[in-house]
Amino acid sequence: MIQTVATKPFNDQKPGTSGLRKKVRVFQQPHYAENFVQSVFDSLEGFEGETLVVGGDGRYLNRDVIQIVLKMAAANGFGRVLVGRGGILSTPAASHLIRSSGAFGGLVLSASHNPGGPDEDFGIKYNVSNGGPAPEKVTDAIHARTLSIDSYRILEAGDVDIDALGSTTLGGMTVEVVDPVAGYAELMETLFDFGAIRAMIADGFTLSFDSMSAVTGPYAVEIFEKRLGAPAGTVRNATPLPDFGHHHPDPNLVHARELYDRMMAPDAPDFGAASDGDGDRNLIIGRHCYVTPSDSLAVLAANAHLAPGYAAGLKGIARSMPTSGAADRVAEKLGIPLHETPTGWKFFGNLLDAGMATICGEESAGTGSDHVREKDGIWAVLLWLNILAVRRQSVAQVMAEHWATYGRNYYARHDYEGIAKDRADALMAALRGGLEALPGTTNSGGAVKAADDFAYSDPTDQSVSRNQGVRVLFEDGSRVVFRLSGTGTEGATLRVYIERYVAKDGDLGLETGEALAPLVKAAQEMADITGFTGMDRPSVIT
Ligand code: G6P
Ligand code: ZN
Repeated sequence: MIQTVATKPFNDQKPGTSGLRKKVRVFQQPHYAENFVQSVFDSLEGFEGETLVVGGDGRYLNRDVIQIVLKMAAANGFGRVLVGRGGILSTPAASHLIRSSGAFGGLVLSASHNPGGPDEDFGIKYNVSNGGPAPEKVTDAIHARTLSIDSYRILEAGDVDIDALGSTTLGGMTVEVVDPVAGYAELMETLFDFGAIRAMIADGFTLSFDSMSAVTGPYAVEIFEKRLGAPAGTVRNATPLPDFGHHHPDPNLVHARELYDRMMAPDAPDFGAASDGDGDRNLIIGRHCYVTPSDSLAVLAANAHLAPGYAAGLKGIARSMPTSGAADRVAEKLGIPLHETPTGWKFFGNLLDAGMATICGEESAGTGSDHVREKDGIWAVLLWLNILAVRRQSVAQVMAEHWATYGRNYYARHDYEGIAKDRADALMAALRGGLEALPGTTNSGGAVKAADDFAYSDPTDQSVSRNQGVRVLFEDGSRVVFRLSGTGTEGATLRVYIERYVAKDGDLGLETGEALAPLVKAAQEMADITGFTGMDRPSVIT
């Protein structure tokens, strides 16, 4: 029943920031998904008889690739596969399931916040036994294998019914279809004071959660409406759709506009939030008060002790390099270490495993903790709710008090999308070439203190990751960072991260655009963005 199928390598299967992401049409080429899955298996050792977790965000192709994975796992010798009912597992729930079941690893099928559908994106990511994305040495090995693969193994069998809970056998392997929500919801109950949140909601606190027709719908309905007592309809767009209703399931101010407008309206609820395609990102908006992801990380870290799961305090905070320094000030005050890592959640895994950090966050709307090894959208919302339930303040009051204590890091990210790859590479090369000459010069952003190309040395295994983004630091603590996105599927996206720090006795009430204008101009000049890209403004500002 096991077939060995001859194949040829594809030369475009290098995993990016977060696994292999391509257009659905690319994945639909004969042998394409199979080659990648076999390359993952070929790069691993010792999984004979072990457990694999598989599930995804429900996007177009999810079910087809799950059937392929099941048949290939059986043919390659796994003992058991746990699959979420209907093929559904949010990324954090998959991480939890890998950890709680003692699985060898998992395949998470998602292209995160990228759109879905026949003409849109799909993705496959391998997570290791700690529940987190495979580290670079594993993804490098997978990539190397994709370039030399000449066959894959697959069981000849009918499709498995993944819509009914329970066990079946496939060849010599067990397939267990599990409830994708229950175990995750129970984990959340151990971390947060559901009683306090329920009481706050019963007292009239109102919230609105936008699942963006993506994976968090069933999780959010179970947790916010059923377990916490929020009225039916609190969760919007709650049914996961293969094409996310033709929307980008990206919780930012562009794609979650409806939520933003609701939160800025005169009759806005007290709290609004959204998550992305696979449920690991979060957007937090209080009544008339948008919270940047970098500020959210800082506030969550400063107040985490108010939630039962973090009452003992934090061991450390980790943030990606482009994320603002707001959390650094919290770490300083708490007297705990702050770790600065390259972009990509995979860099937090070792720190969490080593007990060097408890909370992690990124400017790209990701926050999480050591409860799993992925960022976690619903977790971030629950921690916010737990904090509000204890402090009994509005989001705007919490933010105002935070800035009055720590000062404010004005922050924005400007994205230039759809640039030809060679133009984007040329821009970065020119920028890198000019780095040494920058310190000591002055431009519209101020006097440049230092400039470098960020490199990270992992304190747990000493592995070094270079070329992780160009940083320009100014004398007054302001900063501009340039890097190319590692998650796109077409062309290149230049990301420019702009930050200005104002101390607590300074002007904390500026409009962000106004506060950052001189640095935006400096960024344009230093990188000659218009010259290289032909674009005179970013396509997205978040
Ligand atoms: C994914 C990863 C995040 C990372 C983000 C950055 O969402 O899970 O950890 O921050 O991509 O993407 P970029 O497009 O900037 O490389
Ligand atoms: Zn995501």
